[in-house]
Amino acid sequence: MKLLVTGGAGFIGSAVVRQAIRDGHQVVNLDALTYAACLENVAGVSNSPNYAFVQADIRDRAALDAAFATHKPDMVMHLAAESHVDRSIDGPGDFIETNITGTYNMLEAARSYWMAQGKPEGFRFHHISTDEVFGSLPNDPDVLFTEDTPYDPRSPYSASKASSDHLVRAWAETYGLPVVLTNCSNNYGPFHFPEKLIPVIILNALAGKELPIYGDGSNIRDWLYVEDHADALLVVVQKGELGRSYNIGGENERTNLELVKTLCGILDELSPRADGKAYAEQITFVTDRPGHDARYAIDPTRIREELGWRPSVTVEEGLTKTVQWYLDNEAWWRPLQERHGVGQRLGTKA
Ligand SMILES: NC(=O)c1ccc[n+]([C@@H]2O[C@H](COP(=O)([O-])OP(=O)(O)OC[C@H]3O[C@@H](n4cnc5c(N)ncnc54)[C@H](O)[C@@H]3O)[C@@H](O)[C@H]2O)c1
Repeated sequence: MKLLVTGGAGFIGSAVVRQAIRDGHQVVNLDALTYAACLENVAGVSNSPNYAFVQADIRDRAALDAAFATHKPDMVMHLAAESHVDRSIDGPGDFIETNITGTYNMLEAARSYWMAQGKPEGFRFHHISTDEVFGSLPNDPDVLFTEDTPYDPRSPYSASKASSDHLVRAWAETYGLPVVLTNCSNNYGPFHFPEKLIPVIILNALAGKELPIYGDGSNIRDWLYVEDHADALLVVVQKGELGRSYNIGGENERTNLELVKTLCGILDELSPRADGKAYAEQITFVTDRPGHDARYAIDPTRIREELGWRPSVTVEEGLTKTVQWYLDNEAWWRPLQERHGVGQRLGTKA
């Protein structure tokens, strides 16, 4: 199987690329290499004869047409996006252009290629999206996002992703493009760009800095280990029912404060502070994110019952692997801390 993966130099896309190559697929990684990209993420597989890289921007339709014509993929997994909510508050324009217009370009390039190929049966356009399109849930364990939850995005990021989901469904209804969609919860794991909560906490802790918690830390997220997510995506693209969407969660709901305390406990074990004190002493509460959604939580019934997929790790297991990975991979994360905006508080301007 030849997969065209967009955003394969990013966090989740690179996990998909690594696993797809391990599974014996051919992969064409198409990525613009924005500030969030790191080709080191795929260094372990980039020498494979099954791997090809195309530097292209999904806002550039001609570049997409050329990539389809040259590489002739059997399926598309579309992950390229602007992904950081705080950056979307300060500069929504890039999110509109990449996440909406870029997805439109991907759909049109894929459709024109699919038609030129004689509409091959097995072709799939797999759009990767977020549970943030569903809005915010009350703190009630009986209320979860299902695939039928109405869309109610609250941030420029989630609104741009919701728009892209609507475009994908419209291209399926209107033009018959064979699509599948997934909406997943918060990912974490190796190669997570050091502007997101979990790497920020690990790296600030190790540097002796404050561990910033937005608001009172009561916001709840469902944490999905990135390698589990990559596994789920490869199941969906191959076995998902045409036109259907699947929610992917980690079955690991935690408040942000619980999550950070768990991380501190793991760090206390794996890399104790020189003064013998607990890393939790570095926790500080900072101004909340404007419009911070209270709770995201996924009902995993559909993917579990229809495709037999479940996450393989608990959040404690996944976080332990993640902390160890950051301890072992300073050469990866240290240079990324120099990139524009990393290490600064963003998204407070609203
Ligand atoms: N990280 C999460 O927790 C999470 C949760 C739900 C959904 N998602 C979705 O999963 C996908 C991947 O997320 P991620 O966390 O790996 O993101 P990321 O920011 O780590 O990586 C995004 C990648 O897309 C590339 N890219 C950005 N704009 C581009 C453009 N115009 N043209 C081509 N490439 C471009 C970047 O260079 C980067 O390599 C996104 O669509 C995101 O919305 C992420």
